[in-house]
Amino acid sequence: MGKTFAITDLRRGLAPAGVGAPASDLRPGQDRLDAMARPLRDLRISVTDRCNFRCSYCMPKEVFDSQHVFLPQSSLLSFEEITRLARVFAQAGVRKLRLTGGEPLLRKNLERLVEMLAALRTPAGGPLDLTLTSNGSLLARKAAVLKAAGLRRVTVSLDAIDDSVFRHMNDVDFAVEDVLAGIAAAIAAGFAPVKVNMVVKKGTNDDQIVPLARALHARFGNAVVLRFIEFMDVGSTNGWRLDDVLPSRDVLARLREIGPLTALPATVDGETARRWRFDANGQEIGLVSSVTEAFCGSCNRARLSTDGQLYLCLFASHGHDLRALVRGGADDAAIAASIDHLWAGRDDRYSALRTAATPFDAKAHGDERRVEMHYIGG
Ligand code: GTP
Ligand code: 5AD
Ligand code: SF4
Ligand code: SF4
Repeated sequence: MGKTFAITDLRRGLAPAGVGAPASDLRPGQDRLDAMARPLRDLRISVTDRCNFRCSYCMPKEVFDSQHVFLPQSSLLSFEEITRLARVFAQAGVRKLRLTGGEPLLRKNLERLVEMLAALRTPAGGPLDLTLTSNGSLLARKAAVLKAAGLRRVTVSLDAIDDSVFRHMNDVDFAVEDVLAGIAAAIAAGFAPVKVNMVVKKGTNDDQIVPLARALHARFGNAVVLRFIEFMDVGSTNGWRLDDVLPSRDVLARLREIGPLTALPATVDGETARRWRFDANGQEIGLVSSVTEAFCGSCNRARLSTDGQLYLCLFASHGHDLRALVRGGADDAAIAASIDHLWAGRDDRYSALRTAATPFDAKAHGDERRVEMHYIGG
């Protein structure tokens, strides 16, 4: 267990979240603002810490090998527990739920959870924006049933169009054609436009930027929106170096080789991606500049780990144990008070601080072991 122990430790011994938090005087539907006046809008729910890929930037094989101890079934929030928490979060202002993992489609009967979450309503009576991030490997089989269950949107991760580059990046020899089949199935099921996320790692797949943009448009036209994500220093196992980051402005410069692009206005508050459109064919692309142009100032996202820990930042080193509240018999009002209390104290803005720091300082930032992305989702 040696090298995996520290990560396991991170998941244990957490203080129960805001136990005994004073009763909240905020009404359902009233905005909860954190310490930097950011509302709570987006809840990302990790439904499994497992994945059938071993992307080196997320679950490197050397660390996540046969010795790695994944969470036991009893630690996982049940669908009922997740739905109950999501209902309380919706009362606190959450408008978007994103199911993530690991690979969320590895969670058995996920469509049942989708059905339960699709039935939730905002205080104003509207449905939530219910979406899912997947590596696409099981999507060909699952897209139609997820759509029927009430899922509204799907985002697929795809880091290359060249088969050998892609096999190298997922590190389990998974063929690019099978992910493309998953995207096709999602479009056929009615999920268009499907967002496709490419994490760009300089020297590894940056030669795929232009070919992937061209290939996706050739195959799917404007039913796909490709987004380029700067490789981030999430977690403590992916060996991140600033030198591995290709800034979005360089991505854009490469895309201009295809043809001129025009910037599009932001559609929602707290949007992660800057949107652009090719003048010639209307193809939309997005640039997520988490490293070079941090978007912490409008960050309205909270993350719920597979075992019910609430993380207030992707780069947090610890979570707040909502599962202990749920399993300890707390009623909804007590859980709501706890969430209000935690959100009110939130001052996280890791990426902004990292951007402001020199690369040298950024290293010093990383002293504390941070949570892994496969455990709280992207
Ligand atoms: P939609 O545009 O509504 O589909 O959602 P989104 O923009 O949140 O998209 P998505 O979940 O696909 O996020 C895109 C990528 O941005 C993720 O894969 C992460 O790499 C990065 N990202 C998302 N949220 C955060 C965040 O809160 N902080 C940082 N630093 N990066 C984030
Ligand atoms: N940097 C940027 N994006 C990442 N993702 C996973 N790890 C990283 C990282 N280190 C992305 C995946 C996927 C989503 C879940 O998060 O590619 O799109
Ligand atoms: Fe799995 Fe996504 Fe992580 Fe790759 S990035 S290992 S597909 S969770
Ligand atoms: Fe939000 Fe933290 Fe990401 Fe900043 S680094 S955008 S605060 S999750």
